Amino acid sequence: MTNLNSEYQLFKSLCHCVNLKSSTIDNTLLKQIKRKGLNISISANSCSLIEPVIPLSENEIKKNLNATIEEEIEHLIVLYQTDSTNKTILKQASKGLFSVLVTEYQTAGQGRRTKLWHSPLAANLYMSVQFTLQDTKNAQLLPLLTAISICNALKNIGITGLQIKWPNDIYYKGKKLAGILVECQHKPTLGSIFVIGIGLNVNMKINDKIDQEWTSLYYVKNKYFDRNQIISEILSELVVQCRQLDTLNLDLFMEQWSLYDYLHGKPILIDDNEQTFNAVAHGISKDGALLIKEHKKSELKKLYSAEVSIKAKK
Ligand code: BTN
Repeated sequence: MTNLNSEYQLFKSLCHCVNLKSSTIDNTLLKQIKRKGLNISISANSCSLIEPVIPLSENEIKKNLNATIEEEIEHLIVLYQTDSTNKTILKQASKGLFSVLVTEYQTAGQGRRTKLWHSPLAANLYMSVQFTLQDTKNAQLLPLLTAISICNALKNIGITGLQIKWPNDIYYKGKKLAGILVECQHKPTLGSIFVIGIGLNVNMKINDKIDQEWTSLYYVKNKYFDRNQIISEILSELVVQCRQLDTLNLDLFMEQWSLYDYLHGKPILIDDNEQTFNAVAHGISKDGALLIKEHKKSELKKLYSAEVSIKAKK
């Protein structure tokens, strides 16, 4: 067994057993797991997890998918560790149906604007969904639609009060709960390949490496969540939205967006990498641009690039 496989086995034993005898454990592997962010209590004779963890499992994810969604998903891969689920799934892209990759740990999780996405072991959800599109006319709406799908999915399991900060950050009470990174590549044999990467803070309680205010589902509901169930809920919403992208009902989309719009009516500070300027957010246009009004100007301006940074002013 490779070192990483042995580490995965030990990780699963820690998740399933209340107490593991220290004498049966490889200390190097234990230290490696601890370094990746799992909270373990180690005494002279035994070790155990400080918080409960349910490992990711293909069977558990499938259990909560209905037959139609399951048929749409050709590959559902669970990995213990990878650099970035987006990168990994792009390398294995296939045509037609959906491929899904989830992992317990990312060594180089990617955020937007070339930032790192910190991905402590088994704390959160790190997932990528890959598919191809024949008709890309609404593809620019994918980041926004993904955010709506996540909010709807979480609402289905009783999590309300979520908001979306354009284009696709999910917020709860002004703190970031989830981020989305949509990537597209054109391959001659496959056409337009899309990868939707989702990082959702689930059971994370501490993380001093994140440089902005964040929250997790644990803090929203004061309980631990089974990530398998959350993955199933998100896939159930997301796969349907992606399938219907070319026949999207734009009025319904706008209505849904306005329910979740975090920036609406707020003064914001925009940084487009060349300059910073103040404006007020006025919702979005049907092509997914942010509508803004600059100080002393009467007309609305469209902001397209997701590469701009927007800060809501306090
Ligand atoms: C953001 O900066 O808000 C986007 C974060 C996206 C993170 C997720 S985690 C799963 C997937 N794999 C990655 O490397 N990034 C995305």
